[in-house]
Amino acid sequence: MASVKNGDYDGIRNQVTKILKRPGYDDGSIGPVLVRLAWHASGTYERKDRTGGSNGAGMRFAPESNDGANAGLEHARAFLDPIAEANPWISYADLWTLAGVTALEAMGGPKTPWKPGRTDFKSEQAAEAYHGKVDGRLPDASQGAQHIRDVFYRMGFSDQEIVALSGAHNLGRCHEDRSGFDGKWVVNPTRFSNQFFKLLLTRKWVPRKWDGPLQYEAVVVGEKLMMLETDLALIKDPEFRVWAEKYAADQKLFFEHFAAAFAKLLELGVDRDGSGVAPLVKGGCPYHAG
Ligand code: HEM
Repeated sequence: MASVKNGDYDGIRNQVTKILKRPGYDDGSIGPVLVRLAWHASGTYERKDRTGGSNGAGMRFAPESNDGANAGLEHARAFLDPIAEANPWISYADLWTLAGVTALEAMGGPKTPWKPGRTDFKSEQAAEAYHGKVDGRLPDASQGAQHIRDVFYRMGFSDQEIVALSGAHNLGRCHEDRSGFDGKWVVNPTRFSNQFFKLLLTRKWVPRKWDGPLQYEAVVVGEKLMMLETDLALIKDPEFRVWAEKYAADQKLFFEHFAAAFAKLLELGVDRDGSGVAPLVKGGCPYHAG
């Protein structure tokens, strides 16, 4: 992998775009797992004490790297390592989040505002000293609306933003050897659209009969598709459902809301100082504390 010059983020975007296609891996693209990496790197945020979030790239270290919710993301990180090695000037925290927005756009999704400035923890000890233990903070797919709200309200999201973000399940699939679940949500899982919401609302989702954890299935144009308990909560809960219906009916609105919520997610815990750098200071940047 060639290097691009310090600060050339468009150059990094090009390098990410070039590695997205991967015949033989899942549905031929590493795009979905890169979006998931960006989300899990950020989704540990706790607004009360301003810990967690994308700054620091703590997932390179235990216990975050071993968190069951992050199973499989070692592949996503390894896909990006050649870019990191060729360009030591970019932090992992910036690279992971930039790769997520780049992959989303390359798969037909909206352009998500993104800013650099994240710094990396130097060690597991540093990560723990700054943020405490952040493993166990990501959502559990076997639960319902209350759990989803507990997790996303903790980060500072509204019901509308929760539903918009959940539309990311238009991409990629579940892997038995990662989460225990199995299958994809839509027929074309490498093309971003509002199909996830349309299928959620129009198909009859029945529990799958198998030895694995509870998940739901429906056959769509000859293919078995899946939903998680947390996905179905988006239509069972009346407040969530209002937004699921709006997004199913209006892809433009979904894209606008998704880009705004995804940008907010990737900024969680990133408090930049006057020079545009987000230092790793306990509880966030001292300039913005309080
Ligand atoms: C995949 C759960 C929210 C993006 C998955 C998987 C699970 C899951 C169990 C399968 C992992 C695997 O086996 O490889 C959840 C739960 C959520 C949630 C419980 C919230 C209640 C989100 C959000 C995003 C997202 C907010 C992004 C904004 C993705 C993507 C994949 C995925 C792109 C596919 C990954 C791949 O193809 O490798 N999610 N998720 N998810 N999730 Fe979520």
